[in-house]
Order: sequence, then structure tokens, then C-alpha cells
Amino acid sequence: MKKIVKTEIEKLLIAGNVRDVLVYDCVESTNDCALNTGATVFARTQTKGRGRNGRSFFSGEGGLYFSIALFFEENQIRLGSGALIPFSAGRLTVSAGIAVAKALNLFGIDAKIKWVNDVYVAGKKVCGILAERRGDIAAIGIGINLNSSIPDDLASKAASLNAPIDPNVLAASVINGFFHELASPDIEFANANCITLGKTVECEKGIGVAVGIDADGALLILIGDQTERLYYGEVRFLSA
Ligand code: BTN
Repeated sequence: MKKIVKTEIEKLLIAGNVRDVLVYDCVESTNDCALNTGATVFARTQTKGRGRNGRSFFSGEGGLYFSIALFFEENQIRLGSGALIPFSAGRLTVSAGIAVAKALNLFGIDAKIKWVNDVYVAGKKVCGILAERRGDIAAIGIGINLNSSIPDDLASKAASLNAPIDPNVLAASVINGFFHELASPDIEFANANCITLGKTVECEKGIGVAVGIDADGALLILIGDQTERLYYGEVRFLSA
């Protein structure tokens, strides 16, 4: 099974978006490393892989764990192209979800977005995404169960792709795609490939039917006769 190699991934990344690339065998969390250093950080395992809302993220051997650092200027994010885009955790996360799903599609895998921070294949989670900010740096952390042994207690909800994919090629495709989506998110793709849509969901706004994703990446939920916008947060499915 191939591993992430600094020289290989650097060759595949489109120049300008990523400053330094750091590759470790093991760290506590690549998000912490990216937030502390401003580098884009890869690790083969994590001892304190972090998910949303204080949850842990399983980060054993065989997975692909990395965090992309982004830089703020006057509360906006400066892209490698020079463009400034407004910061929103939702937009970062949706852009990353689109990039992961499209990258997996390139390998023939039918991946779907579960708004806002998960990617699913055949009804199970294969990828989690976590956007965090510390000072002038944001980190968008992505964990993909590429060739992982999923623990029994997670196996009903999570799966590993178990595909002969070079992690360097997959990671580069996700990162290059992520910067493309950040500049101009393919919301049509997100709407066409989101398993949340059409479901009855419960969220901080109440209970309603998820009907779409808007240009900012917000989830549109029909609650009674009102369409509410959820920019970020937990969504629980009440219908299958
Ligand atoms: C979630 O499922 O709630 C989000 C999981 C995000 C996991 C990734 S793995 C790389 C990066 N480092 C972390 O500690 N978390 C993210």
C-alpha cells in the first residue's frame, strides 16, 4: 500500500495555494499542526483525531489524514490566486465536501455529500471534514477511510473504501479541487449529490425538510411554510 510522500505530493499540487507541506508518521491532530505552523500537514495516523462537537475521529493506519492551512487578511481568506473570499466555516466545509466527492468520482467511486461535513459511499461515512480557525490561520481537516480497519463499534455507520488508490494522487486531487471550489463552489454538483436533501431533518432551527443548498453552502430547510437557512451545524435525519 502506498504512503504519502512529501516530494510526490508536492509535485502534484498546483503551485501557489499551499505554502509548506509537512508529512508525519503520527501526530495528535493534523488540524493542530496546520493551525500552529501554517503548513499543509499530512499524518499516517493521529492519536487525537478530532471530529465536530468534541467528538474523536478514528485515525488508524491506512487512512488519509490531512489539514490544509488558509490565511486570513482582514477577516477574509487570501487564495493563492490573490483573490480574497469571505470566511465562513460552512463554505469551507461544503467546498471541501464537493472536492472530496469529485475526487472519489474520478476513481469511479459514487460518493455523496452528507451536509455539511461528511462524505458517504453506499450509505456509510468514508470521510469527515472539520474547519477550524486560530488567529489568522484556518485549517480545513479531512480524514478519508482509504484502507482502514474500521473498529467494530463504528462499523454500522462508517466504512473504508479499501481501494487501490495512491493517497498522493487522491490528496492532491482533493486539495487542488478544494481551492477551485473555494473560488467558485459547484453548488449544482452539491445539490445533485447530497443525501441530506429530501430528508426530514432536525436541527437548531427545528424540524423540517431539507430542500437545497444555496450559493453560500447553507442548507435550505422548509419548516412549515418558511425556508430557513442553516449555515453550519448538526443535522439529524428523522426520515430514511
Ligand atoms: C467529523 O467527522 O466530525 C470531522 C472529522 C475530521 C477529521 C479530520 S482528520 C484530519 C484532521 N485532523 C483532525 O484532528 N481532524 C481532521
